[in-house]
Amino acid sequence: MSVVVLISGRGSNLRALLEAGLPVSAVVSNVPGAAGLAIAAQHGVPGRVVSHKDFATREAFDEALAKEIDHYSPRLVALAGFMRVLTPGFVQRYRERMLNIHPSLLPAFPGLNTHQRALAEGVKLHGCSVHFVTADLDHGPIVAQAAIPVRRNDTAASLALRVLTQEHVIYPRAVRWFLDGRLAIVNGAVSVEGGDAQLVFDDRA
Ligand code: GRF
Repeated sequence: MSVVVLISGRGSNLRALLEAGLPVSAVVSNVPGAAGLAIAAQHGVPGRVVSHKDFATREAFDEALAKEIDHYSPRLVALAGFMRVLTPGFVQRYRERMLNIHPSLLPAFPGLNTHQRALAEGVKLHGCSVHFVTADLDHGPIVAQAAIPVRRNDTAASLALRVLTQEHVIYPRAVRWFLDGRLAIVNGAVSVEGGDAQLVFDDRA
């Protein structure tokens, strides 16, 4: 019933998962000293480091990472600000049991600097997405999205803050759905048994 969370930094999504009472059995960071490791420790969850710098190839790093994850036999791997591109072999190993949270309304703005790019494009709606991880970076079946309006005076920082608040709402919800066995992927689209809302839209957010 457990989840292994992969992080690289701050760990606010990790905190949201822990505060939602989700069964996180370990946190693995590719960055030694990542702030999220302290959050894991505060919650009595083991924090492990597998530094990509200790490996000559992506394959070797991913192999070591998988070994660490599999030690905990999780049902789900949750990427929460994990800043490494994963090899196709790794993605295949956790196929349909690995989720990611991304700070845009996918398929718009995959990759980095999503808030700046949203402002530069002048979009009026922005947000975040929880999706299953596939070999295609920041693509993959979408489990949940939260949308917020972009205001005239928004900056990348103000958008990031409002989107992050929504990330902390939809990620725990999506992980819970997965663990409760309520998600189905049909032709690349995800549905939730029971029909819970997969879109959060707060026009005052
Ligand atoms: C979040 O914006 C998440 O969407 C992205 O990386 C950031 C991680 O933040 N993938 P945190 O470490 O969870 O605070």
